[in-house]
Amino acid sequence: MAHTLTQAREWNATLKSARPELVALFVGGTSGIGRSTAIKLASSIARPTVYIVGRNETAGAQVVEEMKAANQNGSYSFIAADVSDLRNVDTVCQKLKSNIKALDLLFLSCGGFTFSKQETDAKIDVNHILRYYSRMRFIYNLLPSLEAAQSPRVVSILAGGKETKIQEDNLDLQKEFSLSTSNGYPATMTSLVFEVLASEHPSISFLHVFPGVVATPMMKKSMGSVVGSILSFLTIPISISMSKSGEWNTFLATSAEYPAKNASTGEYPGYYLLNYNGNDATNKALMEQLRKEGFPNTVWKHTLATFDRICA
Ligand SMILES: NC(=O)c1ccc[n+]([C@@H]2O[C@H](COP(=O)([O-])OP(=O)(O)OC[C@H]3O[C@@H](n4cnc5c(N)ncnc54)[C@H](OP(=O)(O)O)[C@@H]3O)[C@@H](O)[C@H]2O)c1
Repeated sequence: MAHTLTQAREWNATLKSARPELVALFVGGTSGIGRSTAIKLASSIARPTVYIVGRNETAGAQVVEEMKAANQNGSYSFIAADVSDLRNVDTVCQKLKSNIKALDLLFLSCGGFTFSKQETDAKIDVNHILRYYSRMRFIYNLLPSLEAAQSPRVVSILAGGKETKIQEDNLDLQKEFSLSTSNGYPATMTSLVFEVLASEHPSISFLHVFPGVVATPMMKKSMGSVVGSILSFLTIPISISMSKSGEWNTFLATSAEYPAKNASTGEYPGYYLLNYNGNDATNKALMEQLRKEGFPNTVWKHTLATFDRICA
């Protein structure tokens, strides 16, 4: 259901008493949507424990300071890592697991926007890894920590509701790489796999969210300062500020409206394809077609095989 920002703010204001403790990991917490959500969440929870991951150590230290300033009763840590290498994802997860008993929230927003392919050693475009494989590897590794929490949630900030038709032989964007496939494939693969994971791990809820057009440094970082500045300027009329995006995402990350499949109050889908305001963005006809063609399991099997290829 679509919410107003006032409703989201009212919900967030209840968290100090309703959810006094929460352990969260933000992958992509050094900038933009991840950063603003980490800071908003830190200020909304009475005693938060927040880990953020990114490469930029200066930004990581700044976000830790900003969270401390927002709420001195929390525990905040930065883990520096380049997560475009899945083996680094494994190292981060090992570190995290040695420090926590349970993970309430895994918030994934690493990556950017790209017009051209840039392959890693794994022979997959770096942004495709960051927006899909790396995020799935975090989820896969941290399933036990999530399952140890009382009402755990995974939020992937990408393009829920913007799925496209896909082809089994192009899942790594080797056959066709374009603006359309590089955006459509990670979005579609995320939504399909969340359906599989929600049924295999019914105590965890999975949210794939389109955050709206958010005024973050992403455009400049991904397209260079001239084109990035022009695009950022042109999108001002439809943009959501980083701070408001943080408020929306704090709401989505904690709201009781998106329960896990086997939540005690009944039976739910357990995975949700949402707009920034919580509105259901599911393209039912397309998802049904992809389901009929067996894509949820095809994509998950391919993902596990890719993990084996890169991490074994
Ligand atoms: N902004 C929008 O309007 C919008 C709209 C739709 C979807 N999205 C999606 O939302 C996600 C977040 O966007 P944003 O606007 O918040 O972007 P952003 O401000 O550029 O933040 C991206 C985050 O990803 C991290 N990151 C990038 N490469 C990394 C790497 N190799 N290893 C570890 N961390 C890495 C960055 O940290 P470091 O630089 O410290 O590594 C940063 O924390 C993106 O996937 C984007 O496609 C954004």
